[in-house]
Amino acid sequence: MSELFGKKNRLSRIFNKSGKSIMLALDHGMALGPMQGIERPGEVLKKLTPYTDSIMLNKGILQNCYVPDGHVGIVLRISGAATIVGEDLTRESITTTVTEALRLSADAVATSIYVGTPNEHSTIRELSLLCDECETYGLPVLAVTAIGKDRERKTDPRYLALAVRVAAEMGADIIKTYYCDENFEKVVEASAGVPIVIAGGPKMDSVLDVLKIAENAVKAGALGVDMGRNVWQHEKPVEMLLALKEVVNEGINAEEAYSKHFGRK
Ligand code: 5RP
Repeated sequence: MSELFGKKNRLSRIFNKSGKSIMLALDHGMALGPMQGIERPGEVLKKLTPYTDSIMLNKGILQNCYVPDGHVGIVLRISGAATIVGEDLTRESITTTVTEALRLSADAVATSIYVGTPNEHSTIRELSLLCDECETYGLPVLAVTAIGKDRERKTDPRYLALAVRVAAEMGADIIKTYYCDENFEKVVEASAGVPIVIAGGPKMDSVLDVLKIAENAVKAGALGVDMGRNVWQHEKPVEMLLALKEVVNEGINAEEAYSKHFGRK
C-alpha cells in the first residue's frame, strides 16, 4: 500500500467528492476570546457542522464542545499563544504535539506563518519542521498565511503570492490565504499546485459580496473556503453555508445562490 495512503485518506475527509471544501473556521477564540457569534461554540458546532465538509478549531473546543459523528474533517490548529491584548498577535508558536493531534483524530493540523513581521523566521521554520514531522504519520498540514500589519500589503497579490509560495516551499499540504480582487489567479498559481482555501476576514455588510469572493476565488483555482466570521456572525449562518456550498461545490453563480437562499436583493 502506498506510503501516501494516510495523507490521501485524511485529505478526502477534508475535501469532498467534488474536490472542494467548505471549512468552518472556529479557531478565533484562542486569540480574540469569546467574540460575537462563538460565545457558545458547542451550539455553533451542533448547528453548523451538518452543512460543512470540515471544521478548523483548537483542541480545547474540539474536545469539550464537539460531539463526534464522523462526518466532518477535523483541521486542528496547533499554533497560538498570543492574544489581542498581548504585545504582539503574531508571536505564535506551536502549542500542541503531533501525537496529541493524532490522539484527537485530526485529519490535518494548522499553523500560521506571519510573513513580513518580526516573527516570520520562527513561524516559517516551525511550519517547515512540522511538515517534516507530519510526513511520518501521513498527517496533512494546513498553513495559515498572514502578511504583517500593513493594510495595503494584505490585499496586494504580490505579497499574498509571496506568503503562499513560502508555505508551499516549506511543504504545506493546504494553504489558507486571504482573497484579493486583483490577480488572485497569481496567488493561486504561487502555490505550485498545493490546494488553496480562502479566509473570509471580518464580517462583510453584503452577503452577495461574500458569495462573490467565493465564486471568484474558485474560478481562479481555489478549492474552497475556510470561513468563520462571515458565517457564524451572520443572522442566517445555515443559509450562508448552503449558498457557499452551491457556489463552491456546484459552480452556481453568486447571484443565483443569493436569490435562492436570501431572496431578492
Ligand atoms: C485566523 C484564522 C481564521 O480561522 C481565519 O481568518 C478564517 O476566519 P475568518 O473567515 O473569520 O477570517 O486562521 O488566523
